[in-house]
Amino acid sequence: MHVEGSTRKIAQDLLAHYDRHARRLPWRAPPGANAADPYRVWLSEVMLQQTTVAAVGPYFAKFTDRWPTVEALAAAEDADVMAAWAGLGYYARARNLLACARAVAADHGGIFPDTEEGLRALPGVGAYTAAAVAAIAFGRRAVVVDANVERVVARLFAIDTPLPAGRTAIRAATDAITPDLRAGDFAQAMMDLGATICTARSPACGICPLRPDCAAFLAADPAAFPVKAAKKAKPRRQGHGWWIERPDGHVWLVRRPDKGMLGGMRALPSSDWSDAPDATPPLAARWFRAEPPVAHVFTHFSLALSVHHAHVGPDVTPPGAGEWWPIARIGEAGLPTLFARAAEVVAQAKKEMMHNARQ
Ligand code: ADE
Repeated sequence: MHVEGSTRKIAQDLLAHYDRHARRLPWRAPPGANAADPYRVWLSEVMLQQTTVAAVGPYFAKFTDRWPTVEALAAAEDADVMAAWAGLGYYARARNLLACARAVAADHGGIFPDTEEGLRALPGVGAYTAAAVAAIAFGRRAVVVDANVERVVARLFAIDTPLPAGRTAIRAATDAITPDLRAGDFAQAMMDLGATICTARSPACGICPLRPDCAAFLAADPAAFPVKAAKKAKPRRQGHGWWIERPDGHVWLVRRPDKGMLGGMRALPSSDWSDAPDATPPLAARWFRAEPPVAHVFTHFSLALSVHHAHVGPDVTPPGAGEWWPIARIGEAGLPTLFARAAEVVAQAKKEMMHNARQ
């Protein structure tokens, strides 16, 4: 590990660079200011987990327009928040978001706790989010390690223990270079560096403020870090989704159970997702299968969803809870990407059937 003097130099070099080059982001206070709104910082950090700044932008704008304070969010209907989150993925985040907003409103008078420990005690707030909010919103010294920071630090110190085991050394090294003052700016500067200069595939070492401090650069192969354990192939699963359409242009949508994949989200009725899913339709009808199946990659498996469509009579009600949704407004249903793509596949299949019928 580096000696004290050079760890301090890393923070100084990085903060000097950040003062000039910080990205202007909607949830961010300018470098050196200590005025970021904790609600906006927390919301952005939850949205940014596993998700890029570019993808988060429009969602952050939509949420803060509609729910400008944590109390406003706490008072929102579950279904409205889930629908507003649709497309951003990792839906457990949205359920935890609401649980956390409600805890802040009910138990803390609408004021976020201002320590890492206090934040960590909120529902759904993990070690990363607590550290990021404590540092960025409250200026606390906290060690903030996301995937960008992990890459930067693995390179700075040429840490070659493969991930995930290498995370222990990476965290210790991040702790060693985190300054007592401006820890929030430091964390965001590390993230910016990782997102814009110290990128995964082709780092721009020529313009990097930490190049003189970087062991991987000295060793001539920064892109080799962090070393990752060989990935296991994702298991493949199959499933069936059912598009049930009424003559007045409505489709039957259900809400998925709160627990489990896409929990709480609107969806098409669908089978289990497994090696051999149950292909029994929810009701008897003349079913057509739309090709191709929708391929979707989740964290722990990939799914091929076969989408079947049928028309039913005006008086039919499918079994179980659900609602008829106007197909012309399907974009407003808040379908997660998997089912939004299933709807597109059906629309395309119906177009082709009409076209073939006319030939
Ligand atoms: N990724 C996660 N948090 C971030 C932040 N505050 N700024 C930029 N990228 C981030």
